[in-house]
Amino acid sequence: MIILAVESSCDETAVALVRDGRTVLADCIASSVEMHRIYGGVVPEIASRKHIEVIAQLADQALEQAGLSRGDIDAVAVTYAPGLIGAVLVGVSFAKSVAYALGVPLIPVHHVRGHIAANYLAHPDLEPPFVCLCVSGGTSLLVDVKGYTEMEILGATRDDAAGECFDKIARVMGLGYPGGAPLDRAAQGGNDKAFSLPRVHIQDAPLDMSFSGLKTAMLNLIHNAQQKGEELPVADLAASFSAAVSEELVPRTMAAAQAKGYGKVAVVGGVAANSRIRRDLEQACQAAGCTLYLPPLKLCGDNGSMIGSQGYYEYLAGTRAGTDLNAYANREI
Ligand code: KG4
Repeated sequence: MIILAVESSCDETAVALVRDGRTVLADCIASSVEMHRIYGGVVPEIASRKHIEVIAQLADQALEQAGLSRGDIDAVAVTYAPGLIGAVLVGVSFAKSVAYALGVPLIPVHHVRGHIAANYLAHPDLEPPFVCLCVSGGTSLLVDVKGYTEMEILGATRDDAAGECFDKIARVMGLGYPGGAPLDRAAQGGNDKAFSLPRVHIQDAPLDMSFSGLKTAMLNLIHNAQQKGEELPVADLAASFSAAVSEELVPRTMAAAQAKGYGKVAVVGGVAANSRIRRDLEQACQAAGCTLYLPPLKLCGDNGSMIGSQGYYEYLAGTRAGTDLNAYANREI
């Protein structure tokens, strides 16, 4: 079964063709990230306008890349939530039109479920159940993936998402936007114990996370140094911050896997590209005797292939959308 998959929840417009949920036939992406850089964050209207400009061209490109024609498409899958509403609306409208014109089923896919499915593409042997840490610019969640379409949230951030926190701190450190990757590079070789940063424990919800206290502590540190005209050692600061974020995420992920009795742990989303988090997870999984599933860097961020993969499993579970499908800024997984 060949699915044309559409993703437009933030600043990446992505169209992919995926066979039977596991084989990527084509994966085309256009990003408006450069246009947002000067604003230090995604400007929703700019992202939406860019999606509308390029989305149909990307679909043609994907068909060309796969050597397929429109008649080969068996179904259309699309991210319908969550995301920037104007941005999601563009993908939903386009996917709906294609499904309508071709007379094929339309499959709505939750963006975070799509991120989780990125691991099915990277690891042909991976099957539920497993615990998945989903960490991106918009989400920080610990999910019990009981089945391909059966999921339960075990823990969630009470405030900012981990990626949002990376981006904010990188911006005040002058590392640009989006800041996760440059901050990760800046941390290489730094002393992760140079700065003492807060760790959070949420009473009665040990798997919930919080990044706002850490963010405030970092901002205070940086502003105080600036006021005194002091230069902070960038590598040490970035390394201490990355270690603090990792400590927020990794022990909770391992505790969730242990509580569920699963020997499999997966990590997805843009922050899954972080070298410190990847290293700590590898060590923790090795110590606990768990298998760790990490997608390659190109599947960590937003892409269409992950929507095509999850779309296939949603299709098998009978999920279909009518022509009245809407887009949502927020929706339960
Ligand atoms: O999943 P994603 O591409 O988009 C969504 O938010 O859905 O994630 C983007 C986030 C940004 O906040 C970016 O700074 C962060 O992932 N990121 C990283 C790294 N690479 C990307 N954060 C930490 N370390 C990285 N190496």
